[in-house]
Amino acid sequence: MAREKAVLAYSGGLDTSVMIKWLIEEKDIDVVAMVGDVGQKRQDLDFIRQKAIDMGAQECLVLDLREEFVNEYLTLALSANALYENKYPLVSALSRPILVKHLVRIAEQYQAQYVVHGCTGKGNDQVRFEVGALTLNPDLKIVAPVREWDLLTREAEMDWARARGVPVPTTMAEPYSIDDNIWGRTIECGILEDPWEEPPSDIYQLTQDPDMGPDQPEYVVVGFKAGVPSAIDGQPISFMEIITRLNEIGGKHGYGRIDMVENRLVGLKSREIYETPGALALIEAHKALEDLTLERDLLHYKLTIEQEWATQVYYGHWYSPLKQALDAFLASTQPSVNGDVRLKFHKGSCLAVGRRSDCSLYDFGLATYGEKDSFDRNASKGFIDIFGLSVQTWARQQRKLK
Ligand code: ARG
Repeated sequence: MAREKAVLAYSGGLDTSVMIKWLIEEKDIDVVAMVGDVGQKRQDLDFIRQKAIDMGAQECLVLDLREEFVNEYLTLALSANALYENKYPLVSALSRPILVKHLVRIAEQYQAQYVVHGCTGKGNDQVRFEVGALTLNPDLKIVAPVREWDLLTREAEMDWARARGVPVPTTMAEPYSIDDNIWGRTIECGILEDPWEEPPSDIYQLTQDPDMGPDQPEYVVVGFKAGVPSAIDGQPISFMEIITRLNEIGGKHGYGRIDMVENRLVGLKSREIYETPGALALIEAHKALEDLTLERDLLHYKLTIEQEWATQVYYGHWYSPLKQALDAFLASTQPSVNGDVRLKFHKGSCLAVGRRSDCSLYDFGLATYGEKDSFDRNASKGFIDIFGLSVQTWARQQRKLK
């Protein structure tokens, strides 16, 4: 019988390198490694590929997923103004489903039985990998070596690795757990596990200390077409390029840091630091344009859908039927979200300070208190009489009862 096969979500780090050897030696399974480039800061990809092969992987597929990530995943996230618990723009939660999609595709192509990931047993990412993979192909099996092996400390892992010729890092281990992609950077662990401790300044890489930002504010005009960013200062450029630019500009002005205690799906609270200047600036701009272009009841209802969307995606339900239905609602709201938003960056803040659109529902005549006023004030009287009738009736009755 042919040996069983696994597709591994490979990062090139110690854990997933050891994992290749471990799968072959302890589980007797062949390994195909997959590296997905979603814009993370990373080592040289040729080096990573070679490392996987040296560990014994049959193949190492390196995929440039950046365009797809932006166009199919971040576009949706922006249409939802997606912020988990009203704060976190879902950086890691957004990258897992695209990795899962390709892991499953490759598993099917190579007739592999297993999908393997390097997540720990108490985070959200394990759920996202597994629920995602099983939604796309319920017949696949999952291996989560970190949950299973007895290499409990980094020392034990390094000893195991050394004994089998796996190169181990000579530098001290990072005190933090980092994940990053085009949409931002996440930082956990170490001193940050004490929620009272202010984060040390050396954890930040995308954002400068807000106090040290330039004294002069900087204005940037972001153009949108059907909800998708399409231009900066009137120059048409890609959504991907716009995120990169706003990461730079926001980062320079010390904008985009988040320090929060969040509720993980597995039931614990964890202290998380995020750096997401581009994502937060784009959400700010996108919301400002929706304020101008979406009809009131639609806008109000959309807010509830946005919350649910963020929760579903955080929970790993990217491919679930509810999430797909929410996508369809969001898509129906975006055709009129066209126009420009002027953002002002300064000393850790980013504010939308101007907006304009051909689809604007802002009617100057209705809004103005000046002489161009076209609003019929006389109609308000009758409107208020009827609108307030129910509570007025209730209030009368309350008085009688007292
Ligand atoms: N708490 C965030 C989330 O669940 C960040 C996770 C970061 N993942 C990591 N492996 N370091 O989305």
